[in-house]
Amino acid sequence: MPAPFSRRAALRRLGAFAASSPLYQLGGQQRPPGLRERVPALEEIESVLEFEPVARARISRTAYDYVAGGVDGEFTLRRNRQAFEWAELVPRALAPAAAPDLSAEIFGQKLPCPILVAPTAAHSQVHPEGEKATHQGAAAAGVLMAVSSNSSYPIQEVAAAAKGPVWFQLYARDTPEGTRDRVERALAAGCQAVLLTVDTQYMSHRERMLHDRHLNIPAAGVPVRTRSRRQAGAPPAPYRLQPQNPDLSWKTVEAIRAYTNVPFLLKGILTAEDARLAVEHGVSGVVVSNHGGRYLDYAPSTLEALPEIVQAVGGRIPVLIDGGFRRGSDVFKALALGARAVLVGRPPLWGLGAFGPEGVRRVLEVLQAELAMAMAATGCATIAAIDRSAVLVDFA
Ligand SMILES: Cc1cc2nc3c(=O)[nH]c(=O)nc-3n(C[C@H](O)[C@H](O)[C@H](O)COP(=O)(O)O)c2cc1C
Repeated sequence: MPAPFSRRAALRRLGAFAASSPLYQLGGQQRPPGLRERVPALEEIESVLEFEPVARARISRTAYDYVAGGVDGEFTLRRNRQAFEWAELVPRALAPAAAPDLSAEIFGQKLPCPILVAPTAAHSQVHPEGEKATHQGAAAAGVLMAVSSNSSYPIQEVAAAAKGPVWFQLYARDTPEGTRDRVERALAAGCQAVLLTVDTQYMSHRERMLHDRHLNIPAAGVPVRTRSRRQAGAPPAPYRLQPQNPDLSWKTVEAIRAYTNVPFLLKGILTAEDARLAVEHGVSGVVVSNHGGRYLDYAPSTLEALPEIVQAVGGRIPVLIDGGFRRGSDVFKALALGARAVLVGRPPLWGLGAFGPEGVRRVLEVLQAELAMAMAATGCATIAAIDRSAVLVDFA
């Protein structure tokens, strides 16, 4: 005889079915829609993580892997996300219900929220209008965008594409004159700060991208790459390390700072020692970053590195952070641990690849809405009110 219908049993069966789904097992990292599934419309998207599978369905495999990948075994890439699980928010009962004020200030610049778009290269891989479209989306959300030295469009065009504020990310990879020229062009385009990236001495080994190159169908006359970069090479590069800027030093930092008459930050600081040196060399701010897990595998997650850096800097310059931020509550945690602002790298690219400038805007709006929610439930009416008492961490 069939068992009598029970709502509880039905729910249990449904729960077991959902738990066995690959979607559930991926823990929010949803797979791209399959052949029988529909790609959701922008209005149907609820969280930043949901943009990734849509972008993946819409952009080339090579572009997706370029954005998604990290160095080597991607330990640091995963750890950036994992660290948020070791930080809990402290709820406050009967906290003031008035709408939280997300406005922030950095280097005298007023921002509607302490969230920025991180500099990422080559946006035309995911959208034909590249960084110009990203800037339009960021500006529509009121968010400041840092433009990469390796932008697909010249900085003047990106800056002019929308009214929103822009900063410039600098790679000091060419001659000192070439570097200076690049900074001057960025300043002439209206960039209000310069971030010098200091964690890319040698080209990193990104296995997803290298495999894509090996597997690509050859164009006429272009040979397929069959050699691994890990095979021995001839002198002077027996380990086949490919230098990007191995000569960058504190002297270079001082030289660039001397002619950069806007706030000058170092991006890629992960230790208290380097943060102290940065202060001593007169920089205006530091960005705690491991380049989104793309350069040194087994480097710490940025959230874990943040408290010691904030302590070493001791309030002398602002400390910013990036790496794995996907929720407004993630942003809240970093602010509580002493960061002045948070940069997001991959999420705007997912928004761009999925829905163009509108997608970028929505990604940034979702983060702001979630940050407001975290503030409301922890009794923080303003960004300045978010402090160390609002989080419990077991790594610091
Ligand atoms: C596709 C991609 C390209 C990047 N290009 C640059 C770059 O040109 N310059 C730079 O300083 N950082 C670059 N980064 C690092 C980001 O600025 C940032 O540190 C990182 O993406 C933050 O981590 P998240 O992607 O988890 O938010 C890049 C990151 C990605 C994912």
